Amino acid sequence: AGSLLTVANLAVEEVAAILAATDRLERMAAPERAKILAGRRIALLFYESSTRTRTSFELAAKSLGAMTTLVSDKSSSIEKGESLKDTGLTLRALGAECIVLRHANSGAPYLLAKSTGLPVLNAGDGMHEHPSQALLDLRTMLTRLPGMSGRLINGKTLGGVTVVITGDILHSRVARSNAMLLPRLGARVVLCGPKELLPEDALGLGGADSSGAVEIERDFDKALKQTASNGTMVVMMLRIQRERLAGLELDLGDYISRYQLDEERLMARAPEALVMHPGPMIRGLEISGEVADGPNSAIEDQVRNGLAVRMALLVRALGAGGFESVTV
Ligand code: CP
Repeated sequence: AGSLLTVANLAVEEVAAILAATDRLERMAAPERAKILAGRRIALLFYESSTRTRTSFELAAKSLGAMTTLVSDKSSSIEKGESLKDTGLTLRALGAECIVLRHANSGAPYLLAKSTGLPVLNAGDGMHEHPSQALLDLRTMLTRLPGMSGRLINGKTLGGVTVVITGDILHSRVARSNAMLLPRLGARVVLCGPKELLPEDALGLGGADSSGAVEIERDFDKALKQTASNGTMVVMMLRIQRERLAGLELDLGDYISRYQLDEERLMARAPEALVMHPGPMIRGLEISGEVADGPNSAIEDQVRNGLAVRMALLVRALGAGGFESVTV
């Protein structure tokens, strides 16, 4: 209980409760908020690099009054060969009550939760999932898209919204978590990219999934134009994950000409679209600096929402007060 390993089993009511707790915690005065997890111990266990996820979980924990400790694979006994299970048991013996885990292997958070019995928050596991990212992305849409109240009302709240996720879908845990979560809230998800980065059924969700809510469109210009003329639109750009390409040949010049979101493409095809990127972004590759810094961009909002949502996830993980259920 309290773990967040995947979005697959999160009911709409539970998503709504996380977002409602996020709102409450964000509005709270800092001294009051700092009492909620005062004296509690949270371990941040990172086997892969991270800026946003690690820092926001750490700041979230500290703003709730918790103590944090960071264990990284680069400067711990993991380098000497200590297993994930033994590392987790060691952290538990030192008093950790919750572990935030980023790991290169899909499924590692499940193993850690099982072997320690502690609540585990999946901070990204290999090419599998990044559930807290999907939740912060959702909050960003609810607060930035026109006509949204900032709240999750029910499973149709994102009705009429199309989210075009573009780029390295194959290696993207962000794409997988979003593609599982957003259709359940009424959104249409279009995956866009070349065959190398978006084979049929890249996410193992059954390709154009049974509900028809996840589609593939390889032509980025077409995806932008058709969607923009059809309602509210989000373009979520993804980084090419060079560290996971392993022998896969990609012509970057060709990729940029077909898939880079630059000012000209955005203004010509979808001038009203909300632009998102989970980061880290490579300016000049998947996205131009002008678009990243422009008025359509919600990239910094995503980062801020990461801190807010992760406060709620920590409160939920530790069973602290103030996390009420929500009926939708
Ligand atoms: N979005 C995201 O996971 O960024 P980091 O790798 O910097 O944590």
